[in-house]
Amino acid sequence: MQIIVLGASAGGGFPQWNCNCRNCAGLRDGSVRAQARTQSSIIVGGGGDWALLNASPDILEQIRHTPALQPNRGLRDTGIAAVLPVDCQIDHTTGLFMLRERGVPMQFWCTDPVYEDLTTGNPILKVLGHYCGIDRQTVPLDGTPFRMPGVPGVEFSALPLSSKAAPYSPHREQSVPGDNIGLTLSDTVSGKKAFYAPGLGARDPAVFAAMAAADVVLVDGTFWTDDEMIALGLSKKTARDIGHLPQSGADGMIAWLDELPATTRKILIHINNTNPILDEDSPERAELTRHGIELAFDGLQIDL
Ligand code: MLT
Ligand code: MN
Ligand code: ZN
Repeated sequence: MQIIVLGASAGGGFPQWNCNCRNCAGLRDGSVRAQARTQSSIIVGGGGDWALLNASPDILEQIRHTPALQPNRGLRDTGIAAVLPVDCQIDHTTGLFMLRERGVPMQFWCTDPVYEDLTTGNPILKVLGHYCGIDRQTVPLDGTPFRMPGVPGVEFSALPLSSKAAPYSPHREQSVPGDNIGLTLSDTVSGKKAFYAPGLGARDPAVFAAMAAADVVLVDGTFWTDDEMIALGLSKKTARDIGHLPQSGADGMIAWLDELPATTRKILIHINNTNPILDEDSPERAELTRHGIELAFDGLQIDL
């Protein structure tokens, strides 16, 4: 099984089009040593075609930079056999519009609450009905493993996470199970596992069990501090308010990842452009390194 990170940034990307924060400005003028990143998406495959986990607004650029996804078996072709967004957020779904030229209906996996949001508040799936069409498949929330036609060698299972639906969802403030999921991706031959959760708002024993069972975890790296956006004057909401567990602090992501077995590979993904860990010379980045925690970057390949 192989995972390729298409985009390691949170919504907005890095640098963000309208952002003049220390990181974004520093990346533009060269005063901060950092790597640009596109918005949140990975692909996973086991030797056949690929499942796209989250369809970001940057999907076309991401496909252009990914040799595995080039059309080369016919006049029209794609290596993407199926799409699965982990929530209904703009950064995870807007790219669906860009895939409208496919010749057959899109094999589309989502939970029931995400399906509701993507057919009502933000009816992308209805709109796509007028283009390629949607072949909707239900992601079970009880952990029942499932496989995707066209994506051999990979078994998927989902668990509900405590995080947030998008601001346009009627259940933004009253989360329901399935608004956000974490995914365990298992190689059907080797049994090796990855756990993927780009939006993860709170510590939870079931989530910890899934992380502890995985060889590699790719988890929420959005914010360093809970009040990161407030301190910059960019928002009135904390990281936790919008469904993201910050890295720092006694009950933060670093302390939680420290509880995993030493053999687990720990990678942060969905990193917001304000996060000081993006600055490769920052003390925050050094602290991650001391804890054996990596940052995902666009193009990162993980073989399991
Ligand atoms: C999030 O992860 O909280 C959202 O993607 C933010 C956004 O869409 O701006
Ligand atoms: Mn996001
Ligand atoms: Zn910024």
